[in-house]
Order: sequence, then C-alpha cells, then structure tokens
Amino acid sequence: MSEYYQKLLENNKKWVESQLAVDKDFFKDLAKGQNPQLLWIGCSDSRVPANEIVGAKPGEVFVHRNIANMVVHSDMNMLSVLDYAVNVLKVKHVIVCGHYGCGGVKAAMGNQSIGIIDNWIRHIKDVYRLHHVHLDTIADETTRFNTFVELNVKEQVFDLAKTSIVQGAWRNGQDLTLHGWVYGLNSGFVTDLEVNISFEKDLDDVYQLKF
Ligand code: CO
Repeated sequence: MSEYYQKLLENNKKWVESQLAVDKDFFKDLAKGQNPQLLWIGCSDSRVPANEIVGAKPGEVFVHRNIANMVVHSDMNMLSVLDYAVNVLKVKHVIVCGHYGCGGVKAAMGNQSIGIIDNWIRHIKDVYRLHHVHLDTIADETTRFNTFVELNVKEQVFDLAKTSIVQGAWRNGQDLTLHGWVYGLNSGFVTDLEVNISFEKDLDDVYQLKF
C-alpha cells in the first residue's frame, strides 16, 4: 500500500482524536441527525471546499458538487439532493458557488474535445450561447472568462428557481432563498453576485408553475 494511502488512514485517526479532545460527544451528537440550514451547490474542484470556505462544521452544510457547479434539470442526482434538502431538511438557503479559474467553464469557452466530459460541458456552452452577444464584446480573455464564470452561476440560480421543487416550496410558504456566489482562488473571498431570489415572480412567465 502506498505511503500516501496509509497517511490518509493515519490522518483519519488523528482527526477523530482531535475532535474528541475538543468535544467528547462530537460524533455521538452528530450521529443523532442533521439539521443543516444550507444547501451548497459547488464545483468539484479540490480547491473549493464548501465547509471550510464558510467556516462550517460537520452537520451544517448539505453539499452537492459537480464540474462547474451546474444545475441540470434532468440530473437525477442534483434533483434528489435538492428535493431532500428542501422538502425533508427544510434548508433556508441554497448557494450556488462558482469560482474564478474554473476548468469546466474554461473548457466550455474552447473547442478542444476532452472526452465524455464534452457532453457535460455542453450545458455550460448553452450558457455561453445565451450570453454570447455580451460575452463576445469582451476583448480581454481573462475578463471574458471571469464574466462567463459569473453569468454561469447566475444562470444556475435561475435554473434552480425553475424547478418544481423550489417553486413548490415557495408555493407552500417555505422560507427558502437562492443565492449566487463566486469564490476567488487567489484570495479566498467569496463575492455575492446578489441574484437572491425568494419568489417565483422573479422568473420569466413561461417558467412560473401553477400548482
Ligand atoms: Co471549477
């Protein structure tokens, strides 16, 4: 077994010890159940860890991560996480957190095939197509890339609002707000894109469901 792999198991033992040193009931209490107020939809990128960024402990954040923090409305994984978070855990906030320098978003701006992932990245290309008039006017590539990252997050927030899950919760009077953030790999700070939506009236007519 590799040294790296052994180290992971050792690290786990140390982590358990350190948690118990602070609170001997830490795991006993966590095992009783979870009551997170936040669903985090983020990128799979190893540099964007949900809990650490917001200073949250285990039990505080329900997490879904995929390449480029996408809300794809036919993705059973995303829908199941969202449904459980909203209808069972009754989270009050959903944050879609993208990040500058996102490899998935960068790939979507280019034409290079990189395998089966091309089909996932197509969802991001659809966002580019939606905003291409604006994006194509930005000559500086880094600025265009950063703007695309932000627009992609905003679009995913709107895609959340279009789901029957979120609209159903709003219709039931549930306190649920959607947010869009971008994380800076260079600084550690998040920027709130202020696309906070808490009612379906913020959506185009055609997406508003009647129950
Ligand atoms: Co990314």
